[in-house]
Amino acid sequence: MNILPRNGIFEKTSLPYKLEGLLPVISKETLQYHYGKHLETYLNNLNTLLGDSEFKNESLETIVQNSNGALFNNASQVLNHVLYFTQFQKPSAENKPQGYLKKAIEKAFNSFENFKNIFEKQGISLFGSGWVWLSSDDSGNLIISQEENAKNPITKNLNPILTFDVWEHAYYIDFRNNRAEHLKSLWQIINWDLLELRYTEKHRYHF
Ligand SMILES: [Fe+2]
Repeated sequence: MNILPRNGIFEKTSLPYKLEGLLPVISKETLQYHYGKHLETYLNNLNTLLGDSEFKNESLETIVQNSNGALFNNASQVLNHVLYFTQFQKPSAENKPQGYLKKAIEKAFNSFENFKNIFEKQGISLFGSGWVWLSSDDSGNLIISQEENAKNPITKNLNPILTFDVWEHAYYIDFRNNRAEHLKSLWQIINWDLLELRYTEKHRYHF
């Protein structure tokens, strides 16, 4: 993915589902706040900070990899939330990875069930605000990482595939302080076909 501004302005990525489309896992009200207000604030801050800076007209990924301070925080939060919101689809208990990503998960974590347990635990144990990520390295190997606050694995030259937002704004309306239950429920709405593309597009020459 390479997210580019239009005339120097980053625009909001539209959701691939309706605001009611993720019920009962994520409510309409949560999306109204999380996508409608939190992401919008990061986006407005990013566009204001870009102004006439050296990063004007650069891709979002380039800004995240090369900036710091407030510009980094807002740019990275926009990238994080775009990757987060676009990875969902309507709930299904049968949601499972397929294809190359399934094989890579089983190679790295023995089984999908084991992977889910490790991923959830990393999300639960992250102190304060941040993100847990599944990424791939240049060889296509999978890595789970905790990233504090706004950090994104592309700053470590990793390719982000899946992420759970563990900032309280992601779950407080629907699950109050129960982060663990929120994370457990997210598996029902993961669009594994999209994640397969995020994985294979980066590594097509390795297969
Ligand atoms: Fe968030």
